[in-house]
Amino acid sequence: MSTADAAGRSVWGSKLGFVLAASGSAIGLGNIVFFGANAYRFGGGAFYVPYFAALFLIGIPMMIVEMGLGQTQRKAFPSAMNRTSGKKGEFLAWWAQVNAIVIAMYYITILAWVGSMLVKSFGPLYADGANSVGPTFGGVLTSWMPVVFAFGIWALNAVFLSKGTKTIEGAVKIFVPLMWVFMALLVVRGLTLDNGLQGVWYLFTPNFDGITEAAVWQGAFSQMFFSLSLGLGTMTVYASYLPRKADVVTNGSMVGFMNCTFEFVAGLAIFSMLFAFTLYPGEGTGTLGMSLVVVPTGIANFPALQVMFAALFFFLMLIAGLTSSISIIEGPVASLKDKFGWSRAKAMALVIGLGAVGSVAFALPQVLELDGKPTQPLGLSLLELFDHWAFGYSLLIVGLVEAVLIGHVYGIEKLRAQLNANARFFKLGPWFDVLIKYVVPTLIGVVLLFNVLNELGVSIEALGIPGKGFYIGDNGEYFDGFEWGPSAVFGLWLGGTVVAAWLITRSGGYDHEEEGEA
Ligand code: TRP
Repeated sequence: MSTADAAGRSVWGSKLGFVLAASGSAIGLGNIVFFGANAYRFGGGAFYVPYFAALFLIGIPMMIVEMGLGQTQRKAFPSAMNRTSGKKGEFLAWWAQVNAIVIAMYYITILAWVGSMLVKSFGPLYADGANSVGPTFGGVLTSWMPVVFAFGIWALNAVFLSKGTKTIEGAVKIFVPLMWVFMALLVVRGLTLDNGLQGVWYLFTPNFDGITEAAVWQGAFSQMFFSLSLGLGTMTVYASYLPRKADVVTNGSMVGFMNCTFEFVAGLAIFSMLFAFTLYPGEGTGTLGMSLVVVPTGIANFPALQVMFAALFFFLMLIAGLTSSISIIEGPVASLKDKFGWSRAKAMALVIGLGAVGSVAFALPQVLELDGKPTQPLGLSLLELFDHWAFGYSLLIVGLVEAVLIGHVYGIEKLRAQLNANARFFKLGPWFDVLIKYVVPTLIGVVLLFNVLNELGVSIEALGIPGKGFYIGDNGEYFDGFEWGPSAVFGLWLGGTVVAAWLITRSGGYDHEEEGEA
């Protein structure tokens, strides 16, 4: 198996290698931690209409576009956008890369907490049965253990990225099949608990209550983008290592469906445990609380093998997250290589160096204590604020502008013809052009508009949409005494990412034709 093509660009050893890598990227914390929390927060059955709309009208089509861009241009996202839609496109793609680094920072901090909980599952986690779960997580958050883990996980990522496709393939060939096996064990255990099936009804019973709330739609759209690894050009980079004849229409759809199947199964596992033990996450349960506290609390009530199942659950999240984090980091690394002709080692040193420092900042255990009220660690507060912007907005903004540029400026008809030439099972019809040119931008645009109005506190009475004002997820109360925090983080995020993207786009580079692996 060769790992470089004639021009010296690294290529996947096999089609299976690519599918495993792309599904390893897609399946991650998004499918376990974020899906469970979002589906619960937005009311189970109420989440489906926007979720499926997002999958078929936006998710799969954009997956095909992002992969198609990489496969036809054989470049990372910024260079591929430059070649198809000029400097504007390149700027957008660099903005996405800067956001990818921010997302990698906190993604790995979350993995560091997961890793710490894995260690604790062999000790204090169930020292006092279900009662010791919450305090154990609290202890992890306020200790230095996650900082150590954050360094370790960045180091692991460096190992898996060190030889490009070759080392990535090595990792996903082991981890991706293992993920499915572990998830199967958990779902069988969950569904066979007394009352475990109750959770299935919660997840499946349609409910149209929340359907007019912009936040539910934004939640579903952001969830879909994040889960499918869209909006950062990740799939473009992975597909740029495909041979010219590869069929991304089929592969892209397949990866999309596999990801959502996994997500569904994960939802079943989580909801069956919650309902079997009537654990209703309280109002204050944040996104992380669901997977790191509520689910382990459910496992504590298992009739047997609690420690084994808890360790299995944390290990599953860890490997699912690892195969995703390597893809998030590969994006900016490959982008720098392609624009400046840097060696892999040099690009990795910059991205990983920056990223590791950021992860440590998010893992800092200092607890803010203001007005005599202990709140949560400063790092976690910062993480939630950055997540609000990077997760909630940047992926959707990139998706919207990308659809407009590829749809109208480059011409989606051109891309579709190139993709259809290699499509062996089904070809994309003209409906695909309509989706990319009009449907995707309109849907995302409307959702973003309502949310911005919502953040600004504008209520739209005719539609029954309340203006909530600047709100951060459902944990607004954590920011008592840290009022300047949200605005400062917003300014830092927007200013920092835009300026960095602008500087990189402006600096010449030489869109290096091809370079071998260093
Ligand atoms: N999809 C992954 C998850 O569900 C995370 C991820 C990997 C990602 N690459 C991405 C999210 C690119 C957005 C963009 O956990």
